[in-house]
Amino acid sequence: MRVLLVGGGGREHALALGLAGDPAVTALIAAPGNPGIAGVAELRAVTPTDPAAVAALAVETAADLVVIGPEAPLVAGVADAVRAKGIAVFGPSAEAARLEGSKAFAKDIMTAAGVPTARAYVCADEESTARALDEFGAPYVVKDDGLAAGKGVVVTDDRSAALAHARECGRVVVEEFLDGPEVSLFVVTDGEAALPLLPAQDFKRIGDGDTGPNTGGMGAYAPLPWAPAGLVDEVMRDVVHPTLAELRRRGTPFGGLLYVGLAITAAGPRVIEFNARFGDPETQVVLALLETPLGGLLHASATGTLAEHPPLRWRPGAAVTVVLAAQGYPAAPRTGDVITGADRPGIIHAGTARRASDGALLSAGGRVLCGTATGADLAAARAAAYALVGGVELAGSQHRTDIAAAAVDGRITIPA
Ligand code: AMP
Ligand code: GLY
Repeated sequence: MRVLLVGGGGREHALALGLAGDPAVTALIAAPGNPGIAGVAELRAVTPTDPAAVAALAVETAADLVVIGPEAPLVAGVADAVRAKGIAVFGPSAEAARLEGSKAFAKDIMTAAGVPTARAYVCADEESTARALDEFGAPYVVKDDGLAAGKGVVVTDDRSAALAHARECGRVVVEEFLDGPEVSLFVVTDGEAALPLLPAQDFKRIGDGDTGPNTGGMGAYAPLPWAPAGLVDEVMRDVVHPTLAELRRRGTPFGGLLYVGLAITAAGPRVIEFNARFGDPETQVVLALLETPLGGLLHASATGTLAEHPPLRWRPGAAVTVVLAAQGYPAAPRTGDVITGADRPGIIHAGTARRASDGALLSAGGRVLCGTATGADLAAARAAAYALVGGVELAGSQHRTDIAAAAVDGRITIPA
């Protein structure tokens, strides 16, 4: 099977490693890829959000399967354009990807499907925003309605900051604050059959102790030793299957990766958000533990044959990933600095580039790379991931020092 992987971040590097490790994958092409992905795939240049260009590349490279990593190409209709060429594609149509592309659409689907989530109002002016803020009270949660790579959300006790964020965004979703630890559950689906992967936890804030602004994600671990028994079954029954059924009913079935972001509250799991693609950096830890060949799994999703796929197999132990971010991330990341010590297994490239003159590795994005490691248990995986990151030098770089620490220490509790 010849696979074309679209994208070039940390998630795509993790996907590329998984695909390259599948004996059924005979050729792996990544577009545009990154210097890490270049170690396991042939790189091709493409604008990932250009549906015609990606479809043409899929034809040119004789791809049997196209895997679309990031959300922007999905929302732009890249999966539709590839499918129109008769090529199997892992990733939802533009219509179904609105589950991620519009918070208001996602809320509408959840309401229709009876999915447990935060109560919310869509607000387009200051007066309705203020009314919604006052109804729910602090902490205030205000979300940009459009795609914002996880950075369009403000959670704050400061009412005027909440109002200011709404003013900047235009149309926002104001919702009730959900109290409880967060879980990222990835579900591979062909629109009807659905296979959950191991639940993971992401760290959204830039600073230790969950302080500072939201980011795309600063680290992750899996599995979750503190997760209630039966959590995954409950989420499949109460969230995933009703959501997939509602999308089928509307004539826009969702095939690909349904990312369910949850808060585990006193009242049970509540959906914080849906995404239409693998999460970054959670993918790095989930795929590090997946023993089932990745290419075959994604191909089954893309061809509507997931019901016949064997149960997933997992490696024992745990995985941790720690993101190394550039100075100034998330507000204004500095790029173009030399990186050393990154040439090791377990270093996943996200925002890196090669200098043309001498091949030196440079920072080229906010989240630059991550150190991903497995271990017999969470503590061992955590130590190994930090050892990897500790060996990398990048001027001004920042990383959290508490990824997976509370879980290792047994300090994560679900509110009573
Ligand atoms: P989102 O882009 O919707 O995932 O939001 C980003 C982050 O903001 C989430 O991972 C949570 O940490 C936080 N967040 C979003 N919505 C809520 C909510 N209703 N209650 C508490 N925290 C939230
Ligand atoms: N790590 C969160 C996300 O991928 O949206």
